[in-house]
Amino acid sequence: MPEYARLERRFPRPGDLKPFLALKDRRGLGRVQRRLASAHTIEDLRRIAQARTPSGPFHYVDGGAEEELGMARAREAFRDLDFHPRILCDVHAVDTSTTVLGGPSALPFGFAPTGGTRMMHAAGERAVVRAAGRAGIPYALSTVGTTSIAALAEAAPSARRWFQMYLLKDRDLSLRMIAEAKTHGYDALIVTVDVPVSGNRLRDLKYGMSYPPQLTLKTFLDASYRVEWWSNLLTTEPYTFTYEEPGVPRSALQVSGFNDNTTTFEDLAWVREAWGGPLVIKGVQTLADARRAVDAGVDGIVLSNHGGRQLDRTPPPLHLLPAAVREVGADTEVMIDSGVRTGSDVVAAIALGARFVLVGRAYLYGLMAGGEAGVDRAAHILRTEVERTMQLLGVTSIAELTPEHVRLFTRRAPVPLY
Ligand SMILES: Cc1cc2nc3c(=O)[nH]c(=O)nc-3n(C[C@H](O)[C@H](O)[C@H](O)COP(=O)(O)O)c2cc1C
Repeated sequence: MPEYARLERRFPRPGDLKPFLALKDRRGLGRVQRRLASAHTIEDLRRIAQARTPSGPFHYVDGGAEEELGMARAREAFRDLDFHPRILCDVHAVDTSTTVLGGPSALPFGFAPTGGTRMMHAAGERAVVRAAGRAGIPYALSTVGTTSIAALAEAAPSARRWFQMYLLKDRDLSLRMIAEAKTHGYDALIVTVDVPVSGNRLRDLKYGMSYPPQLTLKTFLDASYRVEWWSNLLTTEPYTFTYEEPGVPRSALQVSGFNDNTTTFEDLAWVREAWGGPLVIKGVQTLADARRAVDAGVDGIVLSNHGGRQLDRTPPPLHLLPAAVREVGADTEVMIDSGVRTGSDVVAAIALGARFVLVGRAYLYGLMAGGEAGVDRAAHILRTEVERTMQLLGVTSIAELTPEHVRLFTRRAPVPLY
């Protein structure tokens, strides 16, 4: 007799089904919260973002330069690593806090500078800084942001704010911008150095990305099923740059026109003098440049390929990290970004010696998926992933993470030099 035929059976009683009915009680949640509650990863937020945002801005965020190989490889580097956990450690309480550039951060990551943020969602940079403040982490406002230095400070006076500079062709204008950031209590200056010219982002051409957005037939059709985005755009204040002055043409501040590509390491001296606070160089991609930056007296460097948005086919910053930490880690704070999509990525970078990690697209997907609450959701997802990964690795503090917890792999081996 088959085993199933030998089972003792009875008729189901009322109430027997109750434990199997896992109906989620989302009655108290609003429309946006309900939508966000279904996102358990940054990738989930990305999918929601794509459905809700016109193609131009979505692909401006999601895309990279040319064939997007640098972008894909930066991500791949995180996926290819192994974790080596310790067992039987008491991990009931985990402390994710750290310090960076002379101040505290509740988590070992912060929000990277991103231009044009109000195009992703009308709530823009104000939403990002408030969410960063709630999470207890720093946020860097971009030179080509869409909210002024003063307005951002007003939106979240107690949040840790950094200011990201592209050095402008007009040096006096750069100096006035630096002074403005100082006046409004920004506590670090990040000079981004990997955009001597804009990268060739083909998706921007394909999807008609423009700043400000143009209503063409194509964008009009796209907008017809993203009505909320367009109505937000048309009913909120027009975009302004991070820093504007009466009489200074916007082209002096716009990506194609603003950036001084005659800048060299020597310029760091006058920037440092004008700023007087912690100074960081973002976009370091070689050991030689890491050393030169340190010799120029910077307080921190960000190993970054700009999320694969500038020069394509740049190596993953994660692969440079261990050597960079060995080379300059004792002299400066080594930070990293590009390709971080999970809290476990953050933990891996910290274990390999990074002082701090920046995330760009991760919070922008949250913003596009649900405005300020979406950025909160992104921070929540990353935070819980950081905590869980630390506990599973057997550590309870950032200081306990070491390179022994991580092993890097690469699918490609370099061709030997001859
Ligand atoms: C839409 C977008 C706009 C960006 N704008 C800037 C910018 O204005 N200044 C800057 O230094 N970096 C900018 N970045 C790069 C980020 O600061 C960061 O280096 C990058 O997003 C990290 O990669 P990830 O997106 O994979 O996390 C931008 C990135 C994105 C996605």
